[in-house]
Amino acid sequence: MTRNSESTGRESVFSAAAITFVAAYLGLRFVAPWLAVLFGFSQTPAPTPGFVLGAYMGCVAFGTLIYLSAEEGRWHLFRGPVVRVFTIPSEGPRRSQLLILGILPLVVGWAEWRRVMPSPQTPAVLRVQHPGLPDQFAVLENPYGEVAEEERAVLEREGIVLYQKNCRPCHGTKADGMGPLARGQRLQPVDFGDPGTIATVVEPYPFWRISEGTTQLPGIATPWNSSMPSWGEELSDEDIWRIIIAEYRLSGTEPRRPEGLER
Ligand code: HEC
Repeated sequence: MTRNSESTGRESVFSAAAITFVAAYLGLRFVAPWLAVLFGFSQTPAPTPGFVLGAYMGCVAFGTLIYLSAEEGRWHLFRGPVVRVFTIPSEGPRRSQLLILGILPLVVGWAEWRRVMPSPQTPAVLRVQHPGLPDQFAVLENPYGEVAEEERAVLEREGIVLYQKNCRPCHGTKADGMGPLARGQRLQPVDFGDPGTIATVVEPYPFWRISEGTTQLPGIATPWNSSMPSWGEELSDEDIWRIIIAEYRLSGTEPRRPEGLER
């Protein structure tokens, strides 16, 4: 083997190991969360928990080392670059060595600083999407509940205009939670077309949530700080009822009928 091809072999074994490690990390960190979306388990990516990431990376490191050390020649080629970095030649350190040995403590220091810095964390508490409706709202009724077909169509159109003006930025043009402001929020607006959201509640429920926003919500429903504003002062009751009609229309759902009032 000539000197040249040995050094190429040495470099390629070391870089193959490094690439495997980095690729496994990137895959687990950034690709795996999207599998939940791809297979339909979740609408948003499910981040890989830190301890799972640690355990898998440990396995990858262990497996790689076993593979590398299983054969004398391969192990020799792998350790070549490592030994070269950490052995100072008699004529003094090379510039590349100084660079690596200078950067390494900075990277470790930065990682440690990231680890101990306090950061806002999503609480490990499950959020209750639909806490109990307060009594003073439970007795309300949509004043437009029993109107003629044409009048309902007019109300719906008016409601859609009000909705697009006030609610679209977060809840999206089609009430699917994909508004332009939604992405940056920790608690993202949900897809109202999903059967588990506004289709599971009676009409006074959205009235309560729209007029009061996040205020009045009990602790079990607020650990993730919803950005939902309260509209009670801004919009009249009639406008809110129109918007509710529009919301169900846009999302293609129906409110739950109160018990004993089956149509
Ligand atoms: C600044 C962003 C923002 C705006 C603007 C906004 N919302 Fe919200 N809204 C949210 C977030 C966040 C939530 C909580 C997550 C969820 O349940 O969708 C929420 C929740 C809701 C809920 C409760 C849904 C449920 O199933 O419990 C309703 C109803 C609602 N919004 C209607 C509206 C209407 C109607 C408007 C316009 C008048 C509006 N929102 C404007 C962000 C917003």
